[in-house]
Amino acid sequence: MRRKLIAGNWKMNGLRAGGIALAGDLAGKCKAEAPNCDFLVCPPAHLLISVAEAIAGSGVALGGQDCHTAVSGAHTGDLSAEMLADAGCGFVILGHSERRADHGESSSLVRSKAAAAKRAGLTAIVCVGETADERKAGRALEVIESQVRESLPETAPEAAEASLVVAYEPVWAIGTGLTATPSDVAEVHGHIRKLLIELYGNDTGSAIRILYGGSVKPGNAAELMAVGDVDGALVGGASLKLEDFWAIGRSCP
Ligand code: 13P
Repeated sequence: MRRKLIAGNWKMNGLRAGGIALAGDLAGKCKAEAPNCDFLVCPPAHLLISVAEAIAGSGVALGGQDCHTAVSGAHTGDLSAEMLADAGCGFVILGHSERRADHGESSSLVRSKAAAAKRAGLTAIVCVGETADERKAGRALEVIESQVRESLPETAPEAAEASLVVAYEPVWAIGTGLTATPSDVAEVHGHIRKLLIELYGNDTGSAIRILYGGSVKPGNAAELMAVGDVDGALVGGASLKLEDFWAIGRSCP
């Protein structure tokens, strides 16, 4: 049974006081109420160390939003997977559509970053998803399949549930208030599951968590989290409000 993972991608939001308070409040709630899911927060890089302190001992995990492929070196502005691990991260989001669009990241680069995450002992959350035009043209599954085949590590992760996560985020649903229908989500997640089993074998492919992301809110979370092969959510805007993020976690069956 895959335990649900509710991951907050804060993106480029949050200054010190608010970010530390948000993380600390979530940590307090988790300590008091032992939720039915795993919580993860992925704040911007300048907050990683203070958020690590704010969530220590609460069970809330910490993740970065990107990493470089190299361990260290002349790469101005970048962070390595080892640096994220050193800051207290257990996870890193890779290949988010905003990085694919804003920074021209290709699936093969995402695959190299996933190898770097593995090298540093981080769980990679590899993001895939089609644009509105690709869905309208009936190409959603084809696009997602090629992103999965080209972005995911070639070799099977060692501890499946613990070392690789896939996030399906339709680009047109991110920050728009639009969400994929449960039947579209079921179709895509089922397809990703088949690919994971083909790539890594039945045991590993069945254990990897597949998250849905794109305008997940308290009002639609229960319906989405009840879909087969939806093993959690990658939440943007609603992860910045404690009540909303907590309510999404509480909606896990
Ligand atoms: P929103 O929840 O704001 O749509 O963002 C989703 C997302 O991109 C999470 O990575």
